[in-house]
Amino acid sequence: MKANFLEEIYLELQCGISKNGHPFRCFALGSIGLESGVGLRTVVLREVSENLRLTFYTDDRSPKIAEMKHNGEVSALFYHPEKRWQLRITGNAVIEENPILLEGIWENLPPNSKKDYTTATAPGSLLNKMDDLTYLDVKNHFCTVQIVPFFIDFLKLGHSHHTRIQFSLEKGDWKGTFVVP
Ligand SMILES: Cc1cc2nc3c(=O)[nH]c(=O)nc-3n(C[C@H](O)[C@H](O)[C@H](O)COP(=O)(O)O)c2cc1C
Repeated sequence: MKANFLEEIYLELQCGISKNGHPFRCFALGSIGLESGVGLRTVVLREVSENLRLTFYTDDRSPKIAEMKHNGEVSALFYHPEKRWQLRITGNAVIEENPILLEGIWENLPPNSKKDYTTATAPGSLLNKMDDLTYLDVKNHFCTVQIVPFFIDFLKLGHSHHTRIQFSLEKGDWKGTFVVP
């Protein structure tokens, strides 16, 4: 039965990629700050594998990349208002460094999306005015990050009762435990 929940989670995450406007299209990504504190931002879910590895795209100069290089443990938070699901996925961030793989994805990105990874200066850099925002012609800073999960906390709100299951990866298999919501 717990395995069925895991399958349902996987299918719903897939919908986040394939269905326009699906609430799992975006998620809140949490990372650990360089000095202290927690970094949180919204990112778009680009890919999900059967073992629930999640991929998002970013600029390799963005502060979150430095944070993940310093401490790879990250958390992904999803919320589905209609299903009343909260999904928290904890894992290790793996930054793709293979230029051939990156080039293959880059080639297929729409021109407008490419702009997100070609600003002349790094995300978060100061601008005197918005008109000062310029783009690189040739070089890009596109990179992909895969979250390799090891823990999932799934909460489903119900009318008579809520259901909460925690899944941990043990020797390559997900083990689920019901916990008090
Ligand atoms: C709806 C939405 C989707 C976003 N998707 C992404 C994304 O897929 N990748 C990304 O790097 N930033 C994305 N952003 C911008 C981030 O939330 C964030 O502002 C930016 O990446 C800088 O984050 P950092 O300073 O923590 O590195 C998105 C923002 C919004 C509002």
